[in-house]
Order: sequence, then C-alpha cells, then structure tokens
Amino acid sequence: MQQATPPRRELGDQIAINAAHARHELASCLSRQIATLPPKYFYDTQGSKLFEAICELDEYYLTRTEARILSQNLAAIAQRAGADVALIDLGAGNCAKAFKLLARLRVRHYVPVDISTAFLSEAVKTLAQAYPDLEIHPVALDFSERFALPAAVQALPNKLFFYPGSSLGNFSPVQARLFLETLRAAGGDLLIGLDLVKPAAMLEAAYDDALGVTAAFNRNVLRQTNHLLGSDFDLASWRHKAVFNADHSRVEMHLQAATACHVSWPGGGRDFAAGETIHTENCYKFTCTGIEEMLHSAGFSDIACWSDPDDAYLVCHARAG
Ligand code: TRP
Repeated sequence: MQQATPPRRELGDQIAINAAHARHELASCLSRQIATLPPKYFYDTQGSKLFEAICELDEYYLTRTEARILSQNLAAIAQRAGADVALIDLGAGNCAKAFKLLARLRVRHYVPVDISTAFLSEAVKTLAQAYPDLEIHPVALDFSERFALPAAVQALPNKLFFYPGSSLGNFSPVQARLFLETLRAAGGDLLIGLDLVKPAAMLEAAYDDALGVTAAFNRNVLRQTNHLLGSDFDLASWRHKAVFNADHSRVEMHLQAATACHVSWPGGGRDFAAGETIHTENCYKFTCTGIEEMLHSAGFSDIACWSDPDDAYLVCHARAG
C-alpha cells in the first residue's frame, strides 16, 4: 500500500513573493547593524489569522473604531463614491471591511489585493456567495514592493482605492507620500483610515495586549523567516516589545533576544547579544491636519474627513481629479 505523503509547503505558495528575492532581502535586513525584518513577512496564512484575532482584541481599538466611523457615514461616502464603483481593496485580508461597504456603495467591480494569496482565495469564495452579481478580480500582489495593477483593473472607470486599518502608517513618511502619489497617478479616489496620536499608554496597550496575541503575531515573522530563509530562530527566546516613540510619532515593534544567541542561515549568520533587538514594524500615528496636508501634497483634493467622538481615528475620502 502506498503511504500518504504529508502536504508540502512550497516557498511562496502562501504569499505573493519571489523566493530568491525574499532570501536575499531577509539576509540583508538581518545583517544590518540594527537588524530589521520587513513587516510584509508577517502575513502568511498563520500571520493573517493572528492579525484577524488582533482586530478583535479589547485593547486594539483601531478596527472597531474605524468600522463605526464607516458605518455611521456610509450615506455620505456612498454619495461621494457615485455609481458603478470599482472598489480596490488594498490589503483585503479576509475582506471583512469591504463586506459592509459592498452592501451600501454601488460597487460593480471588487478588486481585493493582498500579499497573502492562500488567505485571499478563501475570503473571496465567501464573498462571491454573498454577492453573486459582483465582478470580483482578486490580485495577489506585494504592493509595498511595486504597485502594478493588472491592465484590466487599471482601465476600469470610477476606481476607489480603499486603504483601511491605518496600514499607510506602516510605511515611512516618505514611502507613504510616494505610495499616495502612485494611487493618485493611477486615477483613483481614496477612502482611507488612519490612527490618530493619543497618550502613549493607550497606544502601547493596543500593540501589546494582555493575551499576547500581538506578541505571537510579531514572533510569527521569525517563523516565516525560518521558513523562507532557512534560518534557525528559536521563537521562544524572543520577547515582544511595543514602544511609542513620540519624536517620530510611531509605535515601534521590536523582538528582543532573551539570551545571547547565534542565528544561522544558509550562507550566513549573526550573533545577537542578550537584550539586542530586531526592529520589525513601525505604526505611525497622525494628526488631522497632518493627514490633510499629506493628502493634498500627494495631489488629492476635495477631502472629506470623519472621526469618532473621542477623536481616536480618522477616515477620509479624497478625490484624485
Ligand atoms: N496596520 C496595523 C496597525 O498599524 C498593523 C498592525 C496591527 C501591526 N497590529 C500590529 C503591525 C502589530 C505589527 C504588529 O495598527
């Protein structure tokens, strides 16, 4: 009798990346004086599921605050968006955020874009059942690397880029500005959600929850690095750190070595001292005027913004034309 072979995970079968490029990128980031790991490697299937759990956490106010702002202002947003919208969902994940927009906006084409291909195809199946008339064009793309929409999507009229979750804040200010310019140049209006500056304790709790879900999410990047690079990180010996850096207006995510260790990978390796950190992510926090200035300077106009009663979070609609 033939033995069943265990399922094999091919490199890159879960995320839209080139395996050789990933190995090179990971090795060079780890070899910097202060080691870093690119945050896009958070989002394999397991990471995407952990991120889903983060969005449910008591401490992580961002997702529910944004959802509330969106649902309370759906009529105004729908009016600004008009008819036959091509909704381009940047970092769609489980498509849950777009789900509610689809019910109210007059969307003809839905284009979920995500780096996590396996996760995306599951989410799209559910969506297609709920909205049988919608034309869905999933795009597996690492847009932190290069933003290239398929020509058929680029050609659609009335494009609306939906960029929720304060994800723009995971770019550096310079990259964020360039990314916004790229969206504007692609001729799409923008519906964006961004987190606002607030006391450090609230911000740090949002990124260091009592259950340790964010810690697991952060450490998952080491698991994914082991998988992609062939490194031998021992996940249990890295501690999660979230610190608000007020000078840069950002929450920084780090992983800190509990003890001195050596990490090796094919063709390289590195020593870490006890307490040494790997910088894994930045989450920039904004002010309302800062956001409006940023959108204007990227070429957007006719900006409308909505907030919650505590001014914790901001949602804006801006026009490309
Ligand atoms: N865009 C999310 C944010 O900035 C991403 C995020 C949430 C995140 N929790 C995280 C990134 C924890 C790294 C670690 O809030």
